Amino acid sequence: MKNQYAGSPQQDLSSASPLVVDTSSQTSRHRRYERLRAQAPVVVPALLLCDFGHLADEVRKLEDAGAPALHLDVMDGHFVDNITYGLPIVKAVRRVTELPIETHLMISNPAQFAERFFEAGADVITFHYEAVDDPRALLEKLRSLGAVASLAYNPETPVSAIRDCLDVCDGVLTMSVSPGFGKQHFETVALDKLRELEALVGDSVTLEVDGGVNPGTIGSCAAAGSQWHVVGSAIFGHPDYSKTIADLVGLAKSQSRTHEDP
Ligand code: DX5
Ligand code: ZN
Repeated sequence: MKNQYAGSPQQDLSSASPLVVDTSSQTSRHRRYERLRAQAPVVVPALLLCDFGHLADEVRKLEDAGAPALHLDVMDGHFVDNITYGLPIVKAVRRVTELPIETHLMISNPAQFAERFFEAGADVITFHYEAVDDPRALLEKLRSLGAVASLAYNPETPVSAIRDCLDVCDGVLTMSVSPGFGKQHFETVALDKLRELEALVGDSVTLEVDGGVNPGTIGSCAAAGSQWHVVGSAIFGHPDYSKTIADLVGLAKSQSRTHEDP
């Protein structure tokens, strides 16, 4: 199974939708994504618990702290029992950073909105298996747009449910909490699922874990094969983002079987 970006920054856009694609910016997006893949294991801050009254400052502080990407949790009050934010916040974050942006769409109708999140500046579009009838079709559509196509699935959904989609995923996000809120307790079933996934896809698909990732759990996630670790409260609960992120990355690297210090 091959990641569509590996070694081919310019992809065939002939089957793309009417979206006007700027190929130079597409190429730089793909480069950013490949750089991010090469840095694994990484810690990706989830802005859910940041100070939205000073959003641009928060983004700058995270950049200065070495965050390699940003994770934006979009919730619609329907797919999950919480409402966060949508396109205007993604656009606002895009204006103030060049970091790759992942939008984690916890919404009931991702097929209707995914393209708009890509146009708003998201590089990685992650949507939920449980929210769509045909995940494969949306993954393929995202790829044809030039987005990084990522599939999230809930703690009660088994890996076998998403297995048939893995060949069209750039990333898979294993939820280690029920989606909807930060500061929840890590569910260890995610570790078994990460191991199962890694055995299926090797490093051809980016494995990501989200929910309850903190100094006590990140090492086990990395050991189980996770490459991107989404972290919310464990970062925003502490004033020194640099130290928190560096400590978390250190813990992940110390347990990751694929990481080699240069
Ligand atoms: C939960 C969100 C997570 C969350 C992570 O539905 O998808 O991204 O913000 O926050 P913590 O790290 O506090 O679990
Ligand atoms: Zn998330």
